[in-house]
Amino acid sequence: MTTDTLAIKVTKATTSKLSTVDFDNLPFGKTFSDHMLTATYADGEWKDFEILPFGEIGLSPAISALHYGQAFFEGLKAYKHDDSKISVFRPDQNAKRFNKSAERLCMPELPTELFIQSIAALVDVDRAWVPSKKDYTLYIRPFMFATDPYLGVAPSTTYKFMVLLGPTGPYFSKNLRVKIETEYTRAAEGGFGYAKAAGNYAGSLLPAKKAAEQGFDQLIWTDAKTHEYVEEMGAANVMFVINGKLITPLTRDTILNGVTRGSILQLAKDAGIEVEERRVSVSEIVTAVDNGTCTDIFGAGTAATIAQVSELVHEGKTYTLPNPAESVFANTMRKTLDDIKYGRVEDVKGWNL
Ligand code: COI
Repeated sequence: MTTDTLAIKVTKATTSKLSTVDFDNLPFGKTFSDHMLTATYADGEWKDFEILPFGEIGLSPAISALHYGQAFFEGLKAYKHDDSKISVFRPDQNAKRFNKSAERLCMPELPTELFIQSIAALVDVDRAWVPSKKDYTLYIRPFMFATDPYLGVAPSTTYKFMVLLGPTGPYFSKNLRVKIETEYTRAAEGGFGYAKAAGNYAGSLLPAKKAAEQGFDQLIWTDAKTHEYVEEMGAANVMFVINGKLITPLTRDTILNGVTRGSILQLAKDAGIEVEERRVSVSEIVTAVDNGTCTDIFGAGTAATIAQVSELVHEGKTYTLPNPAESVFANTMRKTLDDIKYGRVEDVKGWNL
């Protein structure tokens, strides 16, 4: 990645926290690197890009992000290759989606170059924080929120863009027991399920908590109108292999256009695997698991990567998948993706920046 044109003021931390971190035990989202990036939107432009020590920020308690949820985020990762080169996987795709979220939430767009250069500069300053351990990465969390101290319901005129970094191990440490959710909904047509709006995740917490209390690791969301079609799984896209075909819900306004999802679809097509993006009904899935034609169900996301399902429960009935450790599709795809991300094969698609 290049850090060429954007003027960023850098203030380095006087001491590093690196030596206090146990790099063999990194649960997702709990450890942050030494620095963060901030930028301000005011008077119709982005300015004051700054890298500074990670820490608390002072904000008015009246900012509209806190009251009306004008806030969204992205998630991507940096990988350390065997030769110590560091790359970030497909940040251009996250930049594109960042601006889709911004548009839907009535927030200002951030030009792709500024998004990518901000990330590149911050990762460069904290390059020592990219883990070397297998399956470990540096998670990158860009986000934007409204900062007008105003309680009227109106788009803010000022915003902050920030980026945080955190070294992390795998998001899930086991195969998943999931419930098909038919009471609550993550997103409805005409809403903003396709955006990475903070509120989408807030709304998912109660159903997820209830599912956890019933012994589930995750839930599969269904459509708001009928609950007959599957949409996503937890905070990731959901994919199925049935009769050797890769099948996933077609993206629409209720479904996030995942970068991992898109990459898997592309790699599967390249490998000659038949791919179907379409509505996928709950009855099709449970029937296919029941009769053994469904060999894989997995969540696909940046944090989750490929998170395999071992057990599916629908209306109280349990459907058991074949042993995920023996799944050819999910395990081969995970390795293919990792080989690209960690630079073990030539990056013919130019996905690593
Ligand atoms: C990501 O995969 O980056 C996500 O957005 C999931 C996150 C909410 C944990």
